[in-house]
Amino acid sequence: MKILIVDDDRPVGKGLKGSLEKLGHEVSFVDNGEEAMKLLKSTMYDLVLLDIMMPDMDGIQLLGKIRQIDPDMTVVMVTGVKEFELVRKSLQLGAFDYIVKPFNPNEMEFMLNRVKERLTILKLKKDYQTFLEEKVYQQTLKVKRIFLGSIASLIKTIEAKDPYHKDHSENVSKLSVEIGKRMGLSKKELNNLSYSGLLHDIGKVGIPDRILLKADKLTPEEYEVIKRHPAIGYEILKPLFENKNILDGVLYHHERYDGTGFPEGLKKERIPLFGRIIGVADAIEAMTAERPYRAKLSRDEVIGELERNSGKQFDPYIAKIGIKIMEDRNG
Ligand SMILES: [Fe+2]
Ligand SMILES: [Fe+2]
Repeated sequence: MKILIVDDDRPVGKGLKGSLEKLGHEVSFVDNGEEAMKLLKSTMYDLVLLDIMMPDMDGIQLLGKIRQIDPDMTVVMVTGVKEFELVRKSLQLGAFDYIVKPFNPNEMEFMLNRVKERLTILKLKKDYQTFLEEKVYQQTLKVKRIFLGSIASLIKTIEAKDPYHKDHSENVSKLSVEIGKRMGLSKKELNNLSYSGLLHDIGKVGIPDRILLKADKLTPEEYEVIKRHPAIGYEILKPLFENKNILDGVLYHHERYDGTGFPEGLKKERIPLFGRIIGVADAIEAMTAERPYRAKLSRDEVIGELERNSGKQFDPYIAKIGIKIMEDRNG
């Protein structure tokens, strides 16, 4: 075992160190509380043998400090014959055992065996805890994977109905992340943004197919129905996601910078950031995809649209990033 002896009486401490070393232990010895605390902060010990009566910081005080840095530390008090009141107090404060000076070899051996037993139990307890934590972590990952998998298939189900929207959500997600990266968002935020982009149109499950898939122009009433999809998506996702940004991206991706969008007609920076980013990504994706009623737009046409609508539909700063992304694309 690795043992630390703290005793102000140097001959006693050194004697104890010698006899414990003979038994095969690795022993350090210090004669005051300060030194002991220094060592305890930098080194792991299996056992601390602590003299109760010391001039500066006595054993009881030191015991309290040790338990603050390591509540599981095994501390055995070393005591003279007349200090039983203090022994009682230290046991109450969490000392594991005590031995009485002068040391009796049998008692010493008995104490060391008890300490060994305790260390074994502590180790088992710790291993079991680590095992449980690892298991919970793995389960959480599994649940998360299943959850995201089912969300992805739900998205695919919506997109399968309409070949013209194939991969729309995935593309919007990727494009949003590309914008977010250029804005310097953190890795965690980019991850949330990718979910939000992937899920932004999930509310379309709540729109009747005859409207969602209608090839002709929509009537104003039908358009009103389509406009419900951000709020429907938000309601679907609210019980599943705690992150507000993810939900905001879904709810506000059809807001316009000039305040003429839906569902709330928010203006400028009142539109949550994820809504503004996904709004731009969504528009770029729609313009660069084939539609039954028009061919896809060329790169320059998309750039032209972004410029024209900057400050109207789009946040000017994010539109600029969208333009940069388009310019960086080949062809
Ligand atoms: Fe949408
Ligand atoms: Fe969309």
